[in-house]
Amino acid sequence: MRTPVVMGNWKLNGTKSTVTELVKAFSTVANDAKNVDVAVCAPAVFIGMVESLATGSNLKWGSEDCDVHTQGAFTGENSPVMLKEFGCTYAIVGHSERRGYHNETNEVVAAKFKSALDNGLVPVLCIGESEAEYDAGKTLDVCKAEIKAVIDLCGIEAFNNAIIAYEPIWAIGTGKTATPEIAQNVHKGIREFLKTFSAEVADGVRILYGGSCNAKTAPELFSQPDIDGGLIGGASLKVADFTAIIEAAKANA
Ligand code: PGA
Repeated sequence: MRTPVVMGNWKLNGTKSTVTELVKAFSTVANDAKNVDVAVCAPAVFIGMVESLATGSNLKWGSEDCDVHTQGAFTGENSPVMLKEFGCTYAIVGHSERRGYHNETNEVVAAKFKSALDNGLVPVLCIGESEAEYDAGKTLDVCKAEIKAVIDLCGIEAFNNAIIAYEPIWAIGTGKTATPEIAQNVHKGIREFLKTFSAEVADGVRILYGGSCNAKTAPELFSQPDIDGGLIGGASLKVADFTAIIEAAKANA
């Protein structure tokens, strides 16, 4: 049985005041959700604050990206060693906004995944197709290539300590949530692909859905057999919405 995960991705949002409000509220909710892994991934500048506010609660936290280097002359980057020092459990890698706006290739994302993993963080590998790729029926080809780059660099066993987030780009921030049927089919396809390398790893890895997942759509999505929770953008900035999504995960734990 895989423990569900509900993870917020705040992206480039937040102030000291909203971060305080959200972390306090989510810490309480996480304490009441023992059978769900609840986490928030915050802009790096807020991670120290999140650590101070959430330590001692069931709420875990992570970063939205992670550099391939651990230190050195790499202006503007955040090292996995630093993230670990501030108590991060998770590091998102390969979010479509980073792939798109920062030209991160599958190979760069795989290197970031390895850097996070080698330094004790749990990488959250984001994968997913564009609308044009969806229309062309290429969804699984895209997802498989994004995963294969990681397997080539790190080996299949790396997914024993990692999470996959399937996030169709056409669903992110658009209000167009994938239907439970569409999402379940892709999640199943991803798991079958992993099975060709290791049945054990495929059975154990958590695959989250992301893309306009909200309080309304979460219950049916999370009840699908291959959907193990969600990576939540917009709705993770609202206490009531994120709380309702955690409730939906609890119901399927
Ligand atoms: P969204 O974002 O929930 O706002 O669509 C999800 C994500 O990009 O991780």
